[in-house]
Amino acid sequence: MPLLRDIFIHLSENQFLNNSTKKMGLKFGANKVVGGVSIDDTIERIKDINDQEMSVVFDNLGEFITDKEDAIQEKGKIIAMINAIHEFGVDSHASVKLSQIGLQIDYDFCLNNIDEIIAVANKLDIFVNIDMESYNLYPDTLRILDAMLEKYDNVGTVIQAYLLNSPDDILKYKDTRLRIVKGAYKESADAAHQDKADIDKAYLELIKSHLTEGTGYTSIATHDHHIIEEIIDFIEQNDIDHDRFEFQMLYGFRKDYQKNLVKRGYKMVVYLPFGMDWYAYFMRRLAERPQNINLIVKSVTKH
Ligand code: FDA
Repeated sequence: MPLLRDIFIHLSENQFLNNSTKKMGLKFGANKVVGGVSIDDTIERIKDINDQEMSVVFDNLGEFITDKEDAIQEKGKIIAMINAIHEFGVDSHASVKLSQIGLQIDYDFCLNNIDEIIAVANKLDIFVNIDMESYNLYPDTLRILDAMLEKYDNVGTVIQAYLLNSPDDILKYKDTRLRIVKGAYKESADAAHQDKADIDKAYLELIKSHLTEGTGYTSIATHDHHIIEEIIDFIEQNDIDHDRFEFQMLYGFRKDYQKNLVKRGYKMVVYLPFGMDWYAYFMRRLAERPQNINLIVKSVTKH
């Protein structure tokens, strides 16, 4: 459905809709994929998910921030959420996009912001994952990760299987906690595999490498059941301890499969976005999988 995909991408980039939806609560069925607008709502969602024996990684929505004041405000929201997790005793950790806290404004400004976030989380024994974004931010993201790894043990990052550099990175970070994903951005053939089959093959190799080469914990973040089942076979055949890895999926996606994995004894972590900037995230999820249009249809016909 390439036409629908283009329509949703176009809608996700519409500035007027992005701004006007900020003032609304979650609309059009967005509550099926977004945890809440406020911290309080989101803590309630986290409790619901924890009740289903799943952990949560939260993501404060909004990226590519170009104004220092906005970046400081976003940093404040992330720290407030970390404090709320501690206060309410829920099972959750943080995912942070460096473009949200100033990576495209000034390197040192961003470094100080992430340092502050990780320091607060470190005191509360909460893990912070640094998300990997588009390839132009990749070198600085790893530079910041390296600086943080020298100071803290509660930090890790994401490896994108489509990147041609990833087999080297996975060995460099073999003792670091990593989330491994296929990769979500449009990158050139100089930097990234373009074919789905090549990306899937690279994904499996990276996961197997990280599970066996070092001491780093592995977050297997995919909705792809072919890949998940192949990894489970590998894990069981090689007797890999269940404390060394977890599965991660986005909130609202493949809920039955998430429950199924928990029932089979695997740790499941739900990626829960929250915040006022829900609209672009929601449109991008619809672009990725236009079948999710039924979320909108159901929400509209219910009222
Ligand atoms: P893909 O979309 O390739 O689907 C493969 C197959 O799985 C499909 O053909 C279908 O059979 C099945 N399937 C997939 N979704 C389904 C559904 N909803 N229902 C039924 N079947 C389904 N990217 C990035 O660049 N940086 C990051 O930091 C992150 N972080 C991140 C965290 C988490 C928790 C997740 C799950 C993903 C990310 N990503 C990411 C996104 C990632 O790179 C990738 O774009 C998406 O996960 C889509 O790829 P999948 O591996 O899920 O399967």
